[in-house]
Amino acid sequence: MAGFAAAVYQRGVHFVQVPSTVMAIVDSSVGGKTCVNHPKGKNMIGAFYQPRCVIADVELLGTLPDRELPSGLSEIIKYGVIRDPEFFEWLENNIELLLDLNAEAMAYAIERSCVNKAEVVSADEREVGIRATLNLGHTFGHAIETWQGYGSWLHGEAVAAGMAMATDLSLSMGWIKPTLASRIKNLLNRAELPMAPPKGMTPDDFMHLMAVDKKVLNGQLRLILPCGPLGNCVFTGDFDPAALAAMLQNSCS
Ligand code: GLY
Repeated sequence: MAGFAAAVYQRGVHFVQVPSTVMAIVDSSVGGKTCVNHPKGKNMIGAFYQPRCVIADVELLGTLPDRELPSGLSEIIKYGVIRDPEFFEWLENNIELLLDLNAEAMAYAIERSCVNKAEVVSADEREVGIRATLNLGHTFGHAIETWQGYGSWLHGEAVAAGMAMATDLSLSMGWIKPTLASRIKNLLNRAELPMAPPKGMTPDDFMHLMAVDKKVLNGQLRLILPCGPLGNCVFTGDFDPAALAAMLQNSCS
């Protein structure tokens, strides 16, 4: 919100970002997306606007409410799924250390996440292509956050449920093997993250809310979905709509 204010005040003033959550350190402070939510959609009003610098002090993380840590781990796991299989394996071996806020493990996970994000953003700052892959699980997750009116689940919690849903959809279309689907969902589960939408949310709610997602093009919903071996994903509108409907039905029941 402060970054968006800096982007529009007097057509732009300098700002410095001091992220104080895992989520902000590994995701929102890197890459220049600044925005605010709107009742009709998450992050609907915003600008690409880079800070002059980012100061991330990991000692702040010890002061966080309990749910913030798993929420940030959700985005960390995402980097492993979409582009960094070695990091995913490291996370499988070290997720409990991160949950215990082990300083060395946390510093490594943060640095590796920021390197992954910086590589993607450097290649595609304005999201004309590859940057969209950073939104694995986000189309479903944003629908959850909007449905809840924001402030109920944390962003990373909604994204985790969204990643589990994207994983189920890819599995049902044969785009990933059952072993990979299990590995992704096991890691999310071990990170103490939700694996399904909140009670009461329906497939219609998802379809309605996802129709205004920023990734819809010419009326076509486009999703980021894991595919092939670990570390790969696609950004596509070319998925089976019947498989999407079935996955939503299963996830919401
Ligand atoms: N959080 C996704 C991005 O920065 O593109």
